[in-house]
Amino acid sequence: MAEREQWATRLGFILAAVGSAVGLGNIWRFSYVAGENGGAAFLLIYILCILLIGLPVILAEFSIGRRGQSDVVGSFTKIAPGKPWALGGIFGVVSAFTILSFYGVIAGWVVYFLYAYVTGIAQGVEGGTYDEFFFGAIGGAVGPVFWQFLFMAIVIFIVFFGVKKGIELSNRIFMPLLAVLIIILAGFALTLDGAGEGLRFMFSPDWSAFGEPGVYAAAIGQAFFTLSLGMGAMITYASYLPKDTKLPSAAGTVVTLDTLFAIVAGIMIFPAVFTFANIDPTDGAGLIFITLPEVFNLMGGAGTFFAIVFFFLVAIAALSSAISLLEVSVAYAMRQFSWNRKKATIVAGVIVTLFGVPSALSYGGPLSDFLIFGMPFLDAVDALTDRYLLALGGMISALFVGWGWNKVDALRETGLTDTTIGAIWIWFIRIVAPLGILWILILNIF
Ligand code: TRP
Repeated sequence: MAEREQWATRLGFILAAVGSAVGLGNIWRFSYVAGENGGAAFLLIYILCILLIGLPVILAEFSIGRRGQSDVVGSFTKIAPGKPWALGGIFGVVSAFTILSFYGVIAGWVVYFLYAYVTGIAQGVEGGTYDEFFFGAIGGAVGPVFWQFLFMAIVIFIVFFGVKKGIELSNRIFMPLLAVLIIILAGFALTLDGAGEGLRFMFSPDWSAFGEPGVYAAAIGQAFFTLSLGMGAMITYASYLPKDTKLPSAAGTVVTLDTLFAIVAGIMIFPAVFTFANIDPTDGAGLIFITLPEVFNLMGGAGTFFAIVFFFLVAIAALSSAISLLEVSVAYAMRQFSWNRKKATIVAGVIVTLFGVPSALSYGGPLSDFLIFGMPFLDAVDALTDRYLLALGGMISALFVGWGWNKVDALRETGLTDTTIGAIWIWFIRIVAPLGILWILILNIF
């Protein structure tokens, strides 16, 4: 069998992990979830969830992958042979597959918006009617599938070239580019009239929101989604690491950069939203597709610039995340069926793309009347993964490292033997994170 692929450098791994973490979650999802849940209060609770649950769990996933040196199923099996933990891995592959199916659809909308701004189609829309424009764009039978396919083709193309030449190389280009673009846009947003109000919305909490359980559930769901936890993406990426990489500092870096990115994305979006009265930050999932285009429209010429840079940024962020989602299934298929990378990428990529078609057709398209629990197909798949699968997967990783694996080995793998941080970490993944997750799962069910 061919030797296992590895990252060329530690920085390459960190950039790839940041690339996985930073995605639609930080821009599209973070801004609308924060908007719906009270802004600043949500931000505080979200940061708490990141520190108390996200950070310990990402370190757990890194250590599972690096120790296992295999895909998510293989890693669980290797570390604890003959135990049922491998089921957690299978669960991860299924979830990553499910997320990618609808992630590709939303990313496809982003690519369409980029196209529509570059060609001037979007600027020709009359102010106040961008909701119709959005639903028109995504409601057909051909359009949304075409853009989803285009996006997925790029994802497949990159994963096809493997860990070093595909994933690492693309992230080396994309991540610095993302940082530059978002800083330009946030700087520009701060010059708008609504900057003060936007910042207040993000940073000055409405204390009453702390009493609402829904805010906690939203915050933890967002924490898992944005850190790519709970389905083996970080396990798979860490499995391409050599033995001598320091995992705790890598985990800290990824979590810090991801959180910073979400905050700067908020600084970019909310001032724009508040600059134009009658536009509301609590608009929900349409925030970047309906609300922001209304804002771009009111900005005149600058709006075109802002829009093109913005949708380009979101498309790249989505791309690097989708790559990590596909890699979960590809790594699994390569080991499980002894396929080479090219075959595994094409087969997994094509199947997951086809699996996304019902989501692509569920918004005003031919499948719009096909509702699951009253939701369009895309929303149902999204809710299933965000509310339950990710949290469950994260809980399995934490429980596995905390209780399934022996403590001495887990600490040795992270280089935290006999340290205070190590002792704290073990108790966080044994007790704090699983109970926190359980509580949220219960809140979600009732
Ligand atoms: N973290 C990505 C985002 O914020 C999405 C993502 C990539 C993901 N890989 C994942 C979410 C694995 C959950 C699990 O957009």
